[in-house]
Amino acid sequence: MNIKTHTKNGTFHVPFFDGDSVLQSIERQDVDVQSHCRDGFCGACKCKLKSGQVEYTVDPLAYMEDDEILTCCTIPVTNIEIEFD
Ligand code: FES
Repeated sequence: MNIKTHTKNGTFHVPFFDGDSVLQSIERQDVDVQSHCRDGFCGACKCKLKSGQVEYTVDPLAYMEDDEILTCCTIPVTNIEIEFD
């Protein structure tokens, strides 16, 4: 699966690695994105999900809009396209 990632520094095509979170797969490609708690609490890793579907590996506690996900505690179940502020 692929994670098309839009950031202020450009668009990156990131392969998803089994066993990783969305965030970990992005970081493997040296794409610079925010994170802090890495466990669904703080919201630092939040981004917009523009297409595709994800599953949560823990119950997220950070506040999110309907079109947002937490990359630290999700895995993609389809190819996804996400956008960071
Ligand atoms: S890094 Fe804190 S919610 Fe993802």
